[in-house]
Amino acid sequence: MTIAIIGTGGIGSVIARQLASGGETLRLSSADKESARTLAAEIGRAAVAAADNRDALRGADAVVLALRFSVLKGVIDGIADPLADKLVVVPSNPLGIDAQGNVSRLLPKGQSSGAVVAGWLPAGARLAMAFGTMSAGLFASSGHRSPEPAVLFYVTDDDRAGEEVERLIRTAGFEPVKVGGIEQSGRLEVGGDLHDLVVGPAEARSLVGGA
Ligand SMILES: NC(=O)c1ccc[n+]([C@@H]2O[C@H](COP(=O)([O-])OP(=O)(O)OC[C@H]3O[C@@H](n4cnc5c(N)ncnc54)[C@H](OP(=O)(O)O)[C@@H]3O)[C@@H](O)[C@H]2O)c1
Repeated sequence: MTIAIIGTGGIGSVIARQLASGGETLRLSSADKESARTLAAEIGRAAVAAADNRDALRGADAVVLALRFSVLKGVIDGIADPLADKLVVVPSNPLGIDAQGNVSRLLPKGQSSGAVVAGWLPAGARLAMAFGTMSAGLFASSGHRSPEPAVLFYVTDDDRAGEEVERLIRTAGFEPVKVGGIEQSGRLEVGGDLHDLVVGPAEARSLVGGA
């Protein structure tokens, strides 16, 4: 499978490494092309740096938008047409940082970031909110855990997106557990009850059911 990864910063670079080591072919894009070029060179044959975001989608089956929430809509608007038949995976948390370094949620309390992102996507795009449920360091160190795999939670409204993202989650070395529909994305984000947890499948299923 060919995966476009748009955004090669803190989380995008770790997702790229995990998927490449699981055998996926990657097309990388970033704001400053040098960032994607450097990561592609570090990963090796499995990854190429695309000329731009639209070029990253050429021949891709799925795209990971590893972007800060504040730039997500602008990037989606710039690549809307080719997104229409793809799995779109979004790890973004709806957070902003002001000049003093204070972090705050960009959406009103209780508003689902997943529902907001779904509203920005063109018809036909298959959205799953996933791969943003752990900090990058925890994500990098928890893949391929043994004997019991660590879980990555996800949400989606789309059965086909669920099957596709589960395959990617397994490729990255985790066991997928669906939390629910896209309205449930708040449980996965910073401050949510399922964020930054490293748990096995049984505990994960009990946490999902117990909310
Ligand atoms: N870092 C984590 O531990 C972590 C964990 C879970 C979830 N998340 C979430 O994931 C999202 C990304 O976080 P991050 O820490 O990876 O941010 P980051 O380090 O700032 O990386 C953002 C990436 O987006 C790229 N970018 C910005 N504007 C772009 C555009 N117009 N077109 C293409 N690429 C563009 C940047 O390109 P350049 O490299 O050229 O600047 C950079 O590679 C956030 O919403 C965050 O909440 C982060």
